[in-house]
Amino acid sequence: MPHESPSITVRPLAGAVGAEVAGVDLAGDPDDATVAALRRIWLDHGVIFFRDQDLPPARLLAFARRFGEVIEYPFLRGLDGFPEIIPVVKLPHERTNFGGVWHSDTAYLDIPPMATMLVAREVPPHGGDTLFACQTAAYEALSDGMKRLLAGLQAVNSSARADVSRTREDRMRDSGRSDAPKEYTATHPVVRTHPETGRRSLYINRAHTAAFAEMTEAESAPLLDYLFDHQVRPEFTCRFRWQPGSLAFWDNRRVLHNPVNDYHGFRRVMHRVTLAGTRPR
Ligand code: OGA
Ligand code: MN
Repeated sequence: MPHESPSITVRPLAGAVGAEVAGVDLAGDPDDATVAALRRIWLDHGVIFFRDQDLPPARLLAFARRFGEVIEYPFLRGLDGFPEIIPVVKLPHERTNFGGVWHSDTAYLDIPPMATMLVAREVPPHGGDTLFACQTAAYEALSDGMKRLLAGLQAVNSSARADVSRTREDRMRDSGRSDAPKEYTATHPVVRTHPETGRRSLYINRAHTAAFAEMTEAESAPLLDYLFDHQVRPEFTCRFRWQPGSLAFWDNRRVLHNPVNDYHGFRRVMHRVTLAGTRPR
């Protein structure tokens, strides 16, 4: 697809999702045509990656605001002076990594975020990659019968599922928000339609989705477990290797992500911003 900024290059990372974008300085106040081109590239690829970007907090926020309204994360305090930016940190002695289960960000909110931007500040010498999985590809690979079955279903998403709650504990201890509620739950369609592309995608995930609406967890588990495995099949995924100054910008309406926890003994520090979304439909 042609883009009007001729200097921008797009290199897909895998078949279904993810592309590295070069030739643009995100801190250099890109013009409206460049931002529009980036938005189209982002919608085409689901998650885009930039390298060697000089984006200290104020500039990260300024860039993020070109794409939407920046919102705060309910469980953790942000950086001093920048409540919208949360540090995503794993320290050398820690064993769990924040968000280390396949998920879409805060899917337990009634209005979950459209997008997330994550910029790497300090990375381990090896490991600490992040995986992404395209939920449009996952949905489209299902049989017609399964698509029909899922079309009418809603699912309950919770912030309090044990596996993902554990991944927040280290940070809740040092930067938890005292005003955070105990649990959020939200019911969303199992298959959502992307408000910008019109394409359908699976909108459940192993970290947050507890059950189909009006069914028990036991009744839901067999089909949910099947879908949790299906939705992250290798051919729907890509994998990103971070360097300091790398930025990932993903579409929570279309992709899941999962940071790989393979760097015990090393420190990894990222800064995260999320952008407001709309109610999934
Ligand atoms: C997040 C998250 C991914 C990572 O910040 O939402 O899931 O690579 N982190 O640290
Ligand atoms: Mn996440």
